[in-house]
Amino acid sequence: MCGIFGYVGSDQDAAAVVLRALKKLEYRGYDSWGVAVASDGGAFLERRVGKIGEAVAALPASPIGLGHTRWATHGGVTQPNAHPHLDCAGRLALVHNGIVTNYRELRAGLIQAGHRFGSETDTEVVVHLLEDCLSQTLAGPDQLAVATIAAFRQLEGLNAIAVLDVDSGQLAAAKSGSPLVLGWGEHGNMYPDYMTKEIHEQPAMLRQIADSWRHHACRLAARLRDADDIFLVGCGTAGHAALAAQYLFARIAGRRVTFATGSEFPYLRDFVGENALVVALSQSGETIDVIDSVKAARERGARVAAMVNVEGSTLWRMADERVPLGAGPERCVLATKSFSAKLAILLMTAYELTGKIDVGEALVRQTADEIERLLTDHRHDLIRGIAEDIYGRDHLFVIGRGPSYPLALEAALKVKEASYVHAEGFAGGELKHGVIALIEPGTPCLVLAPRDETYADIMSGAMEVKARGALLIGVSPEPDEAFDHHIPIADVGPATAMLSAVPAQLLGYYLALRRGHDPDKPRNLAKSVTVK
Ligand code: AGP
Repeated sequence: MCGIFGYVGSDQDAAAVVLRALKKLEYRGYDSWGVAVASDGGAFLERRVGKIGEAVAALPASPIGLGHTRWATHGGVTQPNAHPHLDCAGRLALVHNGIVTNYRELRAGLIQAGHRFGSETDTEVVVHLLEDCLSQTLAGPDQLAVATIAAFRQLEGLNAIAVLDVDSGQLAAAKSGSPLVLGWGEHGNMYPDYMTKEIHEQPAMLRQIADSWRHHACRLAARLRDADDIFLVGCGTAGHAALAAQYLFARIAGRRVTFATGSEFPYLRDFVGENALVVALSQSGETIDVIDSVKAARERGARVAAMVNVEGSTLWRMADERVPLGAGPERCVLATKSFSAKLAILLMTAYELTGKIDVGEALVRQTADEIERLLTDHRHDLIRGIAEDIYGRDHLFVIGRGPSYPLALEAALKVKEASYVHAEGFAGGELKHGVIALIEPGTPCLVLAPRDETYADIMSGAMEVKARGALLIGVSPEPDEAFDHHIPIADVGPATAMLSAVPAQLLGYYLALRRGHDPDKPRNLAKSVTVK
């Protein structure tokens, strides 16, 4: 049970890329580790016994590298037995996870053929076998691939290998039974940053929730049914999800739930009764304002359900009912996929209250497909172009009505956190009560206009700011001549709000890049706010 990782791309410090990844894979085995890179026509190796710790691989610059963390199966925990292993010519470096059950007979044949072995491992057999196959394969761009298949087919057992070929500057990998995944990215590595990665993880995450979260939604729905009063509490993005759920439960289940911002809830605790349920929403599970809200609710005898991404966190441990978000680690300070996860689970829970959870699951799946389309078709570049058009503006407004109002707040938060543009989200109907005074010629205004009962009124609001010279960016299934830019999104009914979060995530991201900011670590912020 080892960890293997390979990288080829634009980053010239492949050794560092590989070592960073190996640290994340070290849970798979930490008897020894090793990294190889190709440089100046040679393979350069660093192999050490023990854990990686703060080690740095002192290897030359290279855009291609390979690495391994070992859990010894064949051969002691020694430096010569550490991977990667080289062939006789030093052209190939290979790492392996699994057990080659026929390695003895293969090894005997290879020694007879003149190969020299430097370790006791089953793995080293593979690199010499590959060396043999390579010498019998026609030179050319796919020589390594053809030879790898030929060699791999001779192995018995459950195995995964990755090999670096110095001559062709290629990596090849093969697997049977052992896990191996291939990642492809613009910049040769997975993603340029966590924000992009986590935005792109949303479709798969939502499909997983639609397919496997029914039992969680049903348990939460049962808690909601038993409660006289329901409060949804969260801060920042989690708060926006809680507010959005207030609309979902009203529209889908005809059920009143009360939203409260975590930092304000303790001041409202007097209306929390004994048979109340407080649903605490938090990615980290460590936000002190939400923890204190839960304590205040407990003092009033309320029950607590926690919708949390970090299992084992404080909120998770405090709760009577625990609902994992299933979003996977979220490292970018800006919450993106954890927001969609919360909305998806709450939407399914609302449908469960009406006995139609399958409708909710279908809507979440449809939204996943629509997000995937939006992330991969022309609209991605369209949003990058809009960012290019408005990045010089210091103010931006987002308007939405009904279920889109919380999304307007969330959209503004993403733009603020990522780009430091002063963005404000408003309930569309509030504009004419004061805010419209801030509109000047060219002021960007994002208009969330789904095809629902809010459409006509939000478009009236849009026309009012247009009349003051605002630059309208419409996020809507419907094109409209009033829009200076139109980001078309599909109509997925009550899930449309969830879908409209993604254009705002991308807009925030590209504004951050255009204004020269790090989208993953915005100034003055932290991923988990554990102070008051
Ligand atoms: C969102 O992008 C921010 N990082 C922040 O508003 C965050 O949502 C808030 O601090 C709550 O964090 P939590 O979900 O971990 O409780």
